[in-house]
Amino acid sequence: MVKKRVLQGMRPTGHLHLGNYLGTAKGMLALQEDPNYETFYMVADLHGMTTPFDPKKIMLESREVILDYLSCGLDPKKSALFLQSSLADLHVQLAYYFSTVVTVARMQHLPTYKEKVKQYPENVTMALLNYPILMAADILIYKASMVPVGMDQEPHMEVTREIARKMNLLYGLGFPEPRSLETKSRYIPSLTGEGKMSKSVEGSYINLTDNLETIKERLAKVPTDSGKGNKIPEGGGVYTLLTIVELFQGLEKRTKYEKEYKRSGIKYQDLKNELAEAIFKDLEPIQKKRRELEKDRAYIDNALKDGTERARAVASKTVKEVKEKMGLI
Ligand code: TRP
Repeated sequence: MVKKRVLQGMRPTGHLHLGNYLGTAKGMLALQEDPNYETFYMVADLHGMTTPFDPKKIMLESREVILDYLSCGLDPKKSALFLQSSLADLHVQLAYYFSTVVTVARMQHLPTYKEKVKQYPENVTMALLNYPILMAADILIYKASMVPVGMDQEPHMEVTREIARKMNLLYGLGFPEPRSLETKSRYIPSLTGEGKMSKSVEGSYINLTDNLETIKERLAKVPTDSGKGNKIPEGGGVYTLLTIVELFQGLEKRTKYEKEYKRSGIKYQDLKNELAEAIFKDLEPIQKKRRELEKDRAYIDNALKDGTERARAVASKTVKEVKEKMGLI
């Protein structure tokens, strides 16, 4: 059976929170266990350099990401785990070849680019403009056909398919046109009651490393109402609580609370305490594993070494092929 190759890139943005765990890590685990797929999971540290970064921290943060995912259950025997920078010679090289078939105008018009320009007007660099081309190289270098990404990355996926088509047409290459894979990634609402759980919004998230006390404190701050009403809120803090109740305590529990809301009323303090216990029960084994792995540098080093080797075997073949077809060999 020919396995479909999956490539996922994670930006190194510090510790995972509950939203990443439910939305991303669980999806990655499911793919890893699915015999139809071969999984390549990469920390996109080179992409982390397209916006301001701290050279003292970048490597540490990438390793933290690996540590987090390993703690959640990623298995280096099943998935190839590696850092993009360990294969910079190949990824960046391919991105350069790709850049010969992409116009500047196409890159400048991307909504993702415009957003970053607004966010960091002092840092509109060539690296930023090249972001989508490097991402296309990340994906096509492994001839991945599936890429688990959020909706916000769709413009980059479109660019990737365009590049694949152009390279195939101009140089007779056989790149697949990769599709985004909607992981069962759920939209995890923020604890503030507005928007989604996000690392950049203080008070919006629960960290995977939080202890019971901290989880209780964070939940205590979720804004609520009188606990009673004719209509179940479809937004705000109460909605967030009910969503998380469903994820950690099941739909039945949510339904029970919804009934209470319309009748006797919800006692939020009890709800929050019970919910905190349920969340912690799920996080405890992950935290335990993390503490074990933190002490075992060699395990992570080996996982990365092994993953890098597997990735390099595939990537170097693709680059050689492209060089040949482009007339460089
Ligand atoms: N741009 C992606 C993001 O911000 C990260 C990324 C880099 C990526 N290279 C990739 C994702 C390759 C998927 C495949 O989420």
